[in-house]
Amino acid sequence: MVSAFATNKRVARLFNWPTSAARGAPRTTDHQPLLYATFPPVAQKKRVAIIPGDGIGKEVIPEAVKVMAAAGAEIETAQFDWGADRYLTDGITAPPDGFSMLQRDFDAILVGAFGDPRVPTNIHAKEILLGMRFQMDLYVNVRPVRLLDAALCPLKGIEPKDVDFVVIRENTEGVYTDAGGVFKRGTPDEIAIQEDINTRKGVERIIRYAFEFCANRTKQDGSRRQRVLMCDKSNAMTHAGSLWQRVFKQVGSEYPQIKPQHMYVDALSMQMVRDPRQFDVIVTNNMFGDIITDLAAGLQGGLGMAASGNIHPGKTSMFEPVHGSAPPIAGKDIANPFGAILTAAMMLNHLGLARESEKIEAAVLDAVRQKKTTQDIGGNLGTREAGGWVAKRVQRM
Ligand code: NAD
Ligand code: IPM
Ligand code: MN
Repeated sequence: MVSAFATNKRVARLFNWPTSAARGAPRTTDHQPLLYATFPPVAQKKRVAIIPGDGIGKEVIPEAVKVMAAAGAEIETAQFDWGADRYLTDGITAPPDGFSMLQRDFDAILVGAFGDPRVPTNIHAKEILLGMRFQMDLYVNVRPVRLLDAALCPLKGIEPKDVDFVVIRENTEGVYTDAGGVFKRGTPDEIAIQEDINTRKGVERIIRYAFEFCANRTKQDGSRRQRVLMCDKSNAMTHAGSLWQRVFKQVGSEYPQIKPQHMYVDALSMQMVRDPRQFDVIVTNNMFGDIITDLAAGLQGGLGMAASGNIHPGKTSMFEPVHGSAPPIAGKDIANPFGAILTAAMMLNHLGLARESEKIEAAVLDAVRQKKTTQDIGGNLGTREAGGWVAKRVQRM
């Protein structure tokens, strides 16, 4: 599979055609050879790196790949074994040039999850997952929160139309930078410092992304999005809070058609459970975004249903379900593959394959309605059966 696009690349180089890896890179010349003008290259398949990772990641990602193939998505895939097994074998988390290779050679990355009880430090997850987010500067974590069927929501009287919001999570700063240290370790005077890093650039670009998202993306029912809510803890974390508040006000003033709103993260958590109808676009920092999207996954039927994209507009981006590696249920063929499958649909849409993406979403919706699901959301199928059902359904569309 890799060799196929290596060949394409050689051909492209021969004729000085831009390869998709070169898109966005500065051109060395504005001059186009005559051949290029006469015979434009046929559209190349999108290239997707597949990194299943650990635990249930290794079960749900193959289902997502199966479903993308069934949908006829024009992609080429290459699989990478980064994860706990590899780390325990050769000590390598992500190879030294791994992130630049992904950036250079792929259009998108589909990831499962990282985390394994045999690696208690979680160092491989930190280096691979946070490594991709930080080193590839994937500064937006888009986490859509959509209820597919009323039966999946633990709240009374809540319908799919009531839960259709998106969390835009800052993905490269905050406490996740792991700045700080431990002094006088192991003594009664021990001090642990965990810094919360917030840069003007980082805060501004994520808030701007949220307003742009609100301005340009509709809801499932086709209606316009109208509100951006910033969630913070500026009553206690006053320094970072002040920066976020000032930038939110400034960027918001450039979007007079959008209503800016604010909630402290504690109050928001309560409101999300009390009445999820009130949310539209939520923008927040790295850690609050992590926490509230697990809560929001609960509204959608649990972690097995939640999708996400780690995005830098115009650059190779990475897509992963919100859930982790779930060690207690790993290897039992019971993990819900729909979060991973919906994540694949999100990735295809990002790659411009909207038709295939829509087919996959529609097939998952059918599966949910017909209870062709794993046990966590009320069905009695295994991981592979549920993925297989969606793949077959997609094929018939
Ligand atoms: P988790 O998401 O793995 O599991 C939380 C709960 O949800 C468990 O009860 C689990 O059984 C259930 N669950 C999760 N996904 C499911 C699915 N697809 N189908 C059915 N049930 C599902 O979170 P955790 O237990 O806190 O963490 C386990 C490991 O995963 C840890 O090492 C953690 O650091 C890691 N983790 C990794 C990622 C990632 O790589 N993106 C995300 C979250 C957690
Ligand atoms: C997530 C995960 C990660 C995070 C962990 C594994 C570091 O919980 O993607 O939601 O906190 O971002
Ligand atoms: Mn999380």
